Amino acid sequence: MKLVLIGYMGSGKSSVGKALASELGYTFLDLDAHIESVERKSISKIFDEKGEIYFRKKENRVLRELMSSEGNIVMATGGGTPCYGNSMEFLMDQEETVIIYLKASLNFLTDRLFLERLNRPLIAHINNKTNMMDFIRKHLFERSFYYNKASLKVDVENTSVDKLVNEIKSNLL
Ligand code: S3P
Repeated sequence: MKLVLIGYMGSGKSSVGKALASELGYTFLDLDAHIESVERKSISKIFDEKGEIYFRKKENRVLRELMSSEGNIVMATGGGTPCYGNSMEFLMDQEETVIIYLKASLNFLTDRLFLERLNRPLIAHINNKTNMMDFIRKHLFERSFYYNKASLKVDVENTSVDKLVNEIKSNLL
């Protein structure tokens, strides 16, 4: 079984993914961390030195490699992963794969990402909250088309990582 977590930056894909994998005894794979290790550079450096198009191509390639892993996995993707190339179609075509959308509101994402923006190249330059909210509103609107194709959607607000893990588990039965 392969469980793939998608959702906007700051929605908790990595922390929920780790906890879910440990609860189920699956292997946890973090797509961004794998890209960083293949490139031997941080995501910020890749954007800076090679640009976003290079990153998106690499992201699509590493996604395919990780999805061909043997055994049970939980994978945390990057916020843009399903929205470029044919990545969402590719994921939806995989056998024994459940795509899970971690859903969060504009206010929640704005508050969280404003504090955590510095190592995220797409938003690191946004230095006031109103502009951050405007950026996320537009971006989320464009990306929701892809995120909403997930077969399972869970709301990440007003809950905890443990509760989210239980909610996902009970929906998988
Ligand atoms: C991106 C999200 C990031 C990372 C890159 C681009 C995006 O991952 O892949 O900075 O396009 O939303 P997180 O969602 O883990 O922050």
